[in-house]
Amino acid sequence: MNSETMVRETPSLTAIDAIAHKHNVQPGAMIPILQEIQEAYGYVPPVAIQRIAENTGVPVSELYGIVTFYSQFRLQPLGKNHVKVCHGTACHLGGAERIAHSIEQVTGAKEGETSKDGLFTVERVACLGCCSLSPCITVNDQVHGQISPEATHKLMSQIKESEGVVESVKVG
Ligand code: FES
Repeated sequence: MNSETMVRETPSLTAIDAIAHKHNVQPGAMIPILQEIQEAYGYVPPVAIQRIAENTGVPVSELYGIVTFYSQFRLQPLGKNHVKVCHGTACHLGGAERIAHSIEQVTGAKEGETSKDGLFTVERVACLGCCSLSPCITVNDQVHGQISPEATHKLMSQIKESEGVVESVKVG
């Protein structure tokens, strides 16, 4: 199941138990269990960590240690639009920092954060595998190559607009 489509589902203890039991509730199977939970919900909910700890005897602190150590895991639900900003060598040289800044200006989310309105999760990645198009970002896995900070600003604004968010204009 695609994690991007599962973001809004509420974690249930039954489903979490089922995933843990699939892996025989083995303390050595923490990574595959956590991966499957993230696949199901788009992130690793605190309730899941608590439940796995109860079922396996692995301390909560150890589970948090795993989730925070590996960048593949998220502790927050994904926003509606998942933006990945490439900071690989080609994209870095092409101005990735300025692109990330443009995204933050429009969405209010820094890399590693989800915007307060839940519309955007911004992730910093090492290489998107399309270096010839650098600098590039993806939005919900769609590549936007050779993108400038200005075009990024416009793209983020368009997404917000399409989501029905109207920028407030100060009067007076
Ligand atoms: S360095 Fe950005 S896609 Fe490879």
